[in-house]
Amino acid sequence: MTRKIHIVGNWKMNQTSNDIDSFFKEMSGVVVKCQSWITPQSIHIPQVKKLGEDALGNMFQVGAQNCSHKTSGAFTGDVSPTSLKDIGVGFTLVGHSERRAIFNEGNQLLNQKTILALNEGLKVIFCVGETLEEREQGKTEEVVKTQLEEGLKGISAGQLTDVIIAYEPVWAIGTGVTATPKQAQDAHDFIRNKVLGSVGFKIDDVVILYGGSVKPDNVEELLNCTDIDGALVGGASLKPSDFMKLCQAGSKLN
Ligand code: PGA
Repeated sequence: MTRKIHIVGNWKMNQTSNDIDSFFKEMSGVVVKCQSWITPQSIHIPQVKKLGEDALGNMFQVGAQNCSHKTSGAFTGDVSPTSLKDIGVGFTLVGHSERRAIFNEGNQLLNQKTILALNEGLKVIFCVGETLEEREQGKTEEVVKTQLEEGLKGISAGQLTDVIIAYEPVWAIGTGVTATPKQAQDAHDFIRNKVLGSVGFKIDDVVILYGGSVKPDNVEELLNCTDIDGALVGGASLKPSDFMKLCQAGSKLN
């Protein structure tokens, strides 16, 4: 299997336009050989797209952190996947644990969003992961399997080639507690080899990212695991020097 390493920075609700200018000034001239993507706040997408492509060329793509389950209409505050595609967005996250927990987005809604985003020509990074309580009760596999089966229901094999999976244990997100490489590899192995085949994926080709307190000093040991094809990174993606180190670690393996 050829590995296609992806480092995806999820900026969440952070960064001003000045911060973004400085970020890419520091990134310019850096050569990256792995996919190095960023999801800013929607309002900053055009700026990040322009500066990111100038700095990182075709290894860069700008993405959205979320999108609507509808193409247009009376959905105040939502962002349509059609409009995202229209301004050159390449992909969107769907089902980030903050969307699930804070905004009560369930598997059925996330399935609608995924289907629509794919139909509109966006790639989808579909996020799954268990809470600490679920892990302690031994329910990790059951939870992740349900999230994948319900969230990706009804998607054709042809469209699944545009879906990337992100395994992000909720207890590791923004906490500084990273899953050990073994914990992450076990979950990725389960997702790839026990779940994705029956959902319709070509399991050798699918990209599965790990997310949850990934930093420059733990990224290599995670990326060295057989079934980890990259990282979805929050906090450490905000600092250009750290994001650069993550992308360079990914570049070594591509
Ligand atoms: P973190 O966030 O790297 O700050 O833990 C990861 C994420 O939320 O995608």
